[in-house]
Amino acid sequence: MKTGIIYYSRTGNTRHVAELLEKKLKNKKIDVKLFEIKHVKKPGFFKAGYAAMRQKELPIIDVDFDLKKYDLLLFGSPIWAGKPAPFIKTFINKIGKTISGKKTMVFLTCSSKPDKYVNAAKIVSKYLEKNNIKTTDTFLILKMKKKQIIDGEQNIDNFVETITSS
Ligand SMILES: Cc1cc2nc3c(=O)[nH]c(=O)nc-3n(C[C@H](O)[C@H](O)[C@H](O)COP(=O)(O)O)c2cc1C
Repeated sequence: MKTGIIYYSRTGNTRHVAELLEKKLKNKKIDVKLFEIKHVKKPGFFKAGYAAMRQKELPIIDVDFDLKKYDLLLFGSPIWAGKPAPFIKTFINKIGKTISGKKTMVFLTCSSKPDKYVNAAKIVSKYLEKNNIKTTDTFLILKMKKKQIIDGEQNIDNFVETITSS
């Protein structure tokens, strides 16, 4: 299952998880590559939270990711105001048509209780499904602080297992 890991990270936590997943999948001999979505302008805390809350799109730097060869795409985002970061929506709506037929899974990072954010993961699923992209209900949601996992670490291996067995 060739896997692409697409993520946005404002302060490095989600990047840390993306890199950890990359390492774990490589150890399982999975062909994996990271793709980072980048903002045009780093939003301040309030603009970021407001845009996320309203599920607005915010502009991303144009990307030309070659995702053709991947069977599975993981989407990673921080939680902002209880929602996924707006750049994920921008990206999915921009390139959605080019990845129809691929499997997808979602991972999120946050700073409070991970269980609270299953609905946020489902919002990403909704963006994907609107673009006719298949997704699953297996989410990985981690509480982070300064690029360290505080809660949810025990779920990483299950998430990786779901990937390797699919
Ligand atoms: C604008 C903004 C809003 C946030 N809102 C929440 C929130 O509602 N719940 C939460 O648990 N964490 C919230 N956080 C914390 C981030 O989700 C958390 O630090 C995340 O791991 C950051 O990921 P990153 O370093 O990849 O950008 C918020 C952070 C920002 C910047």
